[in-house]
Amino acid sequence: MKIFLDTANLDQIRTSARLGVVDGVTTNPSLLAREAGDWQKTLAEICAAVDGPVSAEVIAEDFDGMIREAHHLTTIAPNVVVKVPMTREGVRAIHALAEERIKTNATLVFSPAQALLVAKAGATFVSPFVGRMDDISQEGLDVVRQIVEIYEVHDFETEVLAASIRHPMHVVEAALAGAHVATMPVAVFDALFRHPLTDRGIQLFLDDWRKAQERLKADRR
Ligand code: E4P
Repeated sequence: MKIFLDTANLDQIRTSARLGVVDGVTTNPSLLAREAGDWQKTLAEICAAVDGPVSAEVIAEDFDGMIREAHHLTTIAPNVVVKVPMTREGVRAIHALAEERIKTNATLVFSPAQALLVAKAGATFVSPFVGRMDDISQEGLDVVRQIVEIYEVHDFETEVLAASIRHPMHVVEAALAGAHVATMPVAVFDALFRHPLTDRGIQLFLDDWRKAQERLKADRR
């Protein structure tokens, strides 16, 4: 399963990307709005910082506006993936962009029925928002499982991108469900590294090593 970072913060992206396990980035208008400066410059810098797809979302709600913005976004960097909301106009735009071979990420997906439509339209990625479904007592990961199954049964090429990830167990469950990608905030990515027994184990090994070195020194005296 690929790991994407769900942030527009360049420092966080650069720090995490150098670890070699980050496969891409997703942004959205809220995430870009949190960063200071010109969003187009920020997006270009993010695209240069990661070796993989970077999703950037259209703001327009009508077909023509979406297509215009999509064309502009793709001039910013070659690895931009155009994020399009799951609406009737959005599905039409995804279909038109697929015909132009422009990669898309169908966003704000909350049901297998919506996922079926965007796959038929030719979306490159579909983003079910796991955490936001959990927030309203709908089991977000069940929706991910159903989408994965539908895509497998019908041989759709659209990749399932588990989004709105809130904690490490969401990542583990998304991987078990067969999601192709999970996008997560840097705090969740960082938490994937941690286990108290790893810290404790390192400490014990170092303590034993130091003790042995001290014994050796004492024996030489
Ligand atoms: C997906 O690409 C979205 O940017 C994101 O995962 C939304 O997450 P949130 O529900 O934490 O805002």
